Amino acid sequence: MTERAAGSNGWVDCHAHLLAGVDDGPQTEDASVRMLEDSAAGGTRTLFVTSHVDERFPWSAQRRDALSRAFDRLLELGDKVPECPQLRMAYELAPRPETEEFRADPAHWRLPGTDVVLVDGPDDIPMEHDPGILEYVKRVTAAGLRPVVAHPERRAFLFPGDRDFADALKANGALLQVDSGALLGFDGPAVAAEAHRLIDEGLVDLVASDAHEPGEADLRSVYDHLYRHLGPGSEALLNGTALEER
Ligand SMILES: [Fe+2]
Repeated sequence: MTERAAGSNGWVDCHAHLLAGVDDGPQTEDASVRMLEDSAAGGTRTLFVTSHVDERFPWSAQRRDALSRAFDRLLELGDKVPECPQLRMAYELAPRPETEEFRADPAHWRLPGTDVVLVDGPDDIPMEHDPGILEYVKRVTAAGLRPVVAHPERRAFLFPGDRDFADALKANGALLQVDSGALLGFDGPAVAAEAHRLIDEGLVDLVASDAHEPGEADLRSVYDHLYRHLGPGSEALLNGTALEER
């Protein structure tokens, strides 16, 4: 592993799915524990557990309670993991207009201790929330908060060469969060190229794991990868600097 720059206090992973059996993340508590161990081994000090609120897992009182129970259980499991990151319960909101979650005060969805809201971005197939992304970015900024759009690089799955998408998000105040797996090539060459293009053009504010299963929450590989590209400046993409309240 590349030696960390002096002064690094570890990483802040602002996007990860670790609650067992609540979305497309881990399905067993054993897998959740292994992901906590991965995150700890990779040097993450703060981990936002960002469960999906989307067309597959829509918001409801029942979902709120199920996530809350699952998070309490994750805290218990984390007590037994050496160097376990500090865990914070949060959401990845898919911005589907006309839903209760879209119309709610965006502050409801902010990452605890920050002024940012994690907004689900594009995927490898057309998503119901795609048309709502830019509209929701404007809604979050109008509320005095900062939207973080997850994996904008996946736009390249459906619209290769579309530079306007990221530019429009940035122009409307969004921070862009690229996935570690995309940079490492796990989403294929087109998405990797777009992730690197966004990095090279200085459009990326954050890199996060977007981990869904064991093996994905350890940020060492992506830090090494970024360090080779950017040198010590890569620290700021992972250490939580961009999440500090403005
Ligand atoms: Fe996610």
